[in-house]
Amino acid sequence: MCGIVGYVGPRAATPIVVNGLQRLEYRGYDSAGIAVVQNGSIEVRREVGKLSNLVNLLAEQPTNGHLAVGHTRWATHGKPSQQNAHPHRDASGEIVVVQNGIVENFRELRESLQAEGFEFQSETDTEVIVFLIALHYAPEGGLAEAVRKALGYLKGPSAIVALTSREPDKLVAARLGNAGGVAIGLGDGESFIASDIPAILEHTRRMIFLEDRQLAVVTRDGAIVQTLDGQAVRPEVHEISWDPISAAKGEYRHFMQKEIFEQARSLTDTIRGRVDFAAGEVYLEDMPLTAERARSFDRAVIVACGTSAYSGLVGKFMLEKIARIPVEVDYGSEFRYRDPIIDERTLIVTITQSGETVDTLAAMEEGRAKGAYLCSIVNVIGSQAARMSDGVIYMHCGPEIGVASTKAFTSSLVDQYLLALFLAQLRDSIGPLARQKLVDDLARLPELAGRLLDADANTVYEDLAERFHRYRNFLYLGRGINYPVALEGALKLKEISYIHAEGYPAGEMKHGPIALIDRDMPVVTLAPQDEVYDKMVSQVEQVKARSGIVIAIATEGDEFIRSRADHVITIPAAPPLLTPVLSVMPLQRLAYEMAVRRGADVDQPRNLAKSVTVE
Ligand code: AGP
Repeated sequence: MCGIVGYVGPRAATPIVVNGLQRLEYRGYDSAGIAVVQNGSIEVRREVGKLSNLVNLLAEQPTNGHLAVGHTRWATHGKPSQQNAHPHRDASGEIVVVQNGIVENFRELRESLQAEGFEFQSETDTEVIVFLIALHYAPEGGLAEAVRKALGYLKGPSAIVALTSREPDKLVAARLGNAGGVAIGLGDGESFIASDIPAILEHTRRMIFLEDRQLAVVTRDGAIVQTLDGQAVRPEVHEISWDPISAAKGEYRHFMQKEIFEQARSLTDTIRGRVDFAAGEVYLEDMPLTAERARSFDRAVIVACGTSAYSGLVGKFMLEKIARIPVEVDYGSEFRYRDPIIDERTLIVTITQSGETVDTLAAMEEGRAKGAYLCSIVNVIGSQAARMSDGVIYMHCGPEIGVASTKAFTSSLVDQYLLALFLAQLRDSIGPLARQKLVDDLARLPELAGRLLDADANTVYEDLAERFHRYRNFLYLGRGINYPVALEGALKLKEISYIHAEGYPAGEMKHGPIALIDRDMPVVTLAPQDEVYDKMVSQVEQVKARSGIVIAIATEGDEFIRSRADHVITIPAAPPLLTPVLSVMPLQRLAYEMAVRRGADVDQPRNLAKSVTVE
C-alpha cells in the first residue's frame, strides 16, 4: 500500500526520494508527492497517477534541497486527486506530514479542528494529523514533541513522517500500531527513512525498525529513538543481507516473470543451511522451541491472507502427515472475529510474505493475548510479524516485487515442510527412516523446479495464452493437496489478467459448477499422478462429456491424459507432499502470459497493493 521515503544528508534529496519511491511502486498506489526543504521553506509537488507524472512535474518545477520526504498514496479516504495526495501541509505551509494507515476517528477530530478554525483542503484522514501537529507545535518541544502529542489523539494504525522548515535538519518518524513498517537507514553522514527496505537498500544495509508506539528523530548523524511516552530506546541495528541487484528486473520484462523463473534458486536458498541431509535432520535457527513445548501442542492453526492462506491449506497436509498434529486454516480477516478457541496448547503459524499484512498481524495479537505459541513464516526480514513472533522461519527467497506472489508461495510451502519435519523431530512423531526419506525428497526439489522452468521454453504457455487470453471465465479444479493449488492458480489469473477465474475442489464440481461448463469456459485441471489421479481423470471425462475445454497439468510421461484433455502441460514426477511446489509453476506462467497478451500492468495490477496494511 502507501509508500514513504525520506532523506536527510549532504546530497540532493529529490532524486534519492523519487528513486526510492520508484522502488516501492510495486506496493500499489494511485498518486504521489514530495516535500523538500528549500532555502528555509517547504516546496511540495503532488500528482495523480503514476510516479512518472510526478517526475514530469518535477522536471517543470524542480526542487533543490537536502531534506525531503516523499509518498505514494493508495486511496482510502477520498479519491485519488492532487489535493488528496500526500504530503499534507498545515496552513502556514511550514509543517508537512505523510502517513500510512488510517485515522479511524478522523471525523470527530476533523470536526473539532474545524471548530477551532482549521480549514481542510483535502478529503483525507491524514490532514487532521498535520493540523494536530501544528496545534501542538511549540519552539521549546519542537517537532518531535508536537508529533508525540498529535499521535495521542489518533485511533487506528499510523506510520508517519513529519518535517518542518523551522527545524530544517531533521525528520520525525513515528509508528502507532501496524500500519506497515518504518525502516531507518543509517548511512555515512546521511540517513534515510522508508516504509520498505528495497527503497533505500542501494544506499545502506544498516537499518533500525521502529516498533509500535516509537518515535525517531532522524538527522544526518543517525536516529534518536524514544517511545511515545518519552522513554529512551536503544534500537537494534540490523544488517540487511539482501543483494540490491536481486531487487532489480535484470533481463526480464517484468518482476513477476523474473520471480517465477528464479524459483529453482529461491527454493535452494530456503532450504540452505537448514537440513543435515546425511543425518536426516532439520535445524531452524530462529525457532527457539523446546521438545517439551512442542509436545504440549494439541493443534496448530495456520492464519494468513490471499496466496499465503492458500499456502497454509497445503501446509495443513504437511503438518498433519509429518508432524501428526491436527491443523485448522483460517483467513486473518476472519479469524479474530469469531472468538477463536486458542490457548497455550495452540501453535499458531502465520504466513506472510510482507510481514506487514494487518489482518494477519491482528490474528497474531489475538493468539498472543490467549497464550498461544506464535511461529511465523515471513519473507521480509525485520518485519512486524517477525518481530512479534516467538519463532520465525524466514522464506529467504529474496525481495518479491511483483504484486502477484509467486516465489514466496513456493518458499513458504518449503518452510512449512521444514516446520513439519522440525516438529516431527521434537514430538517423535515419525521414525528416523521415514524422516530420512522426507529429507531426501526435499533435496531433489530445486533440481526438479529448475527442470520444469527450463523445459519446453515458453512455447506451450505462449500458445495457450494466445488461444485463450480473450476468454472471460476459467474454472480451476484440484483435489487433495492440489486443491489449494487450484485456488492459487485462479487467484493468479484474476489478479493480473482481470479474467474471472474460480478455484474449486474437483469433487464438488458436480454439486454446482458443472452447470457452467461449455466451450466458453476452459477448465484447468490439476491431475498429477498421485493417489487421487483416477478421480481427477473422471472429472476430466465429465467436463469433456459436456463439451468443455480441458487444460491439464499432468505428470511427465502420462500419455493417457493426453488422450482425454485438450491441452496438457507436464511437470516432473515429485513426492506427493512436494508436488504443489511444482504444480503451481505452470499456473503462474500461464497467468503471466495471459496478462501480457491482454496488455495488463503485470507487476502492479489495478487496485492491488503488495502489503495490505489496512483492514
Ligand atoms: C498474492 O498474489 C496477493 N497479491 C495477495 O493475495 C497476498 O498474498 C496477500 O495480500 C497476503 O500478503 P502477505 O503474504 O504479505 O501477508
